[in-house]
Amino acid sequence: MSDTLNRREFMAASAAALAVAGVPQTLQNQAPTLLIPKGPRPLVVASANGHRYKNGGTVTCIEMAFRMMTEGADVLDALVAGVNLVELDPEEVSVGYGGLPNAEGVVQLDASCMHGPRKRAGAVAALEGVRTPSSVAQKVMDETDHHLLVGKGAQAFARAMGFPIEDDLNTPKSRQLWLEWKRRADPGHWLDPRKRAEAGFQAGLRMVADGLIDPEHYYGTINCNGMNAKGEICGVTTTSGLAWKIPGRVGDSPVLGAGLYLADGIGAAGSTGRGEANLYGLSTFLIVELLRQGRHPKDAGMEALRRIAANTQEKRLLDEKGRPNFQVDFYILNARGESAGVSMYPSTYSVCTENGATTMDTAALHQNKLLR
Ligand code: GLY
Repeated sequence: MSDTLNRREFMAASAAALAVAGVPQTLQNQAPTLLIPKGPRPLVVASANGHRYKNGGTVTCIEMAFRMMTEGADVLDALVAGVNLVELDPEEVSVGYGGLPNAEGVVQLDASCMHGPRKRAGAVAALEGVRTPSSVAQKVMDETDHHLLVGKGAQAFARAMGFPIEDDLNTPKSRQLWLEWKRRADPGHWLDPRKRAEAGFQAGLRMVADGLIDPEHYYGTINCNGMNAKGEICGVTTTSGLAWKIPGRVGDSPVLGAGLYLADGIGAAGSTGRGEANLYGLSTFLIVELLRQGRHPKDAGMEALRRIAANTQEKRLLDEKGRPNFQVDFYILNARGESAGVSMYPSTYSVCTENGATTMDTAALHQNKLLR
């Protein structure tokens, strides 16, 4: 996008300025060309679930975040208010309250946030009992000298900050899906222990294939990044992580550089999908460094996907053509107001600008549909 006024905006601005200054019409026509710098175009870029859930209200995450941001709220406050909607919505089974639980049926949540202008960040991992982990991550950023609190310590911190702690964050829907997984993965507890991990993995994939779980929800997450008209960039990522994970497993979402990274004046990148792939390659850090070198968000994201593909060598993670057999998506914006959603396999993402909120197709590294 151009950093200057377009011709029509320039002509209108020039004419108005000259008229106010009382310059006669004949001289106004001879006025020299003035190029007035324009501020960046505010925008919010998120995973597709950022424009799907309303938690019984009238607006989605990206609509709420964009509105608050353009009305003057701090960018991170606006983004966290947006993802709170999704965390609290019982229909969304990959984030916050009602997120798919771990192998023991316990909902354990991860989240991180970054504030570009303040150069601060906060995160929580394996947090139990709090519906909105993104808000706890923001408190870690605001109230402590630390970047990441985990498990019982994160819960004690949340309690101290006044968050209600609940015994169980399952909804009837998430509990039902967990029970179905148990039934498929572990009938009667009599499987060979060496085969149980694989049986659990396969049972989860069959539930996706049977249409019980949206493939995007298996590692489901929401990432939401925004930039205001002053060019201030912030981001947040929040998740219940991999469905049926080993208790204590932490994914990429709360780890800076993996599930979320940004640099003010440069850009932001966040991710959904297989967290282990991003933890290995610190993909969002890589993307922001590529933005810093001037690469377009789409090119930077594609480079990170190619890096993941190159680093994926184990047979169990490859399809018959040697491609990764999992999804990873990136949601990226730069300080010029350019944005992109990219993914290993075709998917969607959401964007909100002054023209409204919309869901768009990602640019995919591989064009076939992910089979599992
Ligand atoms: N990207 C979410 C996770 O792997 O936990």
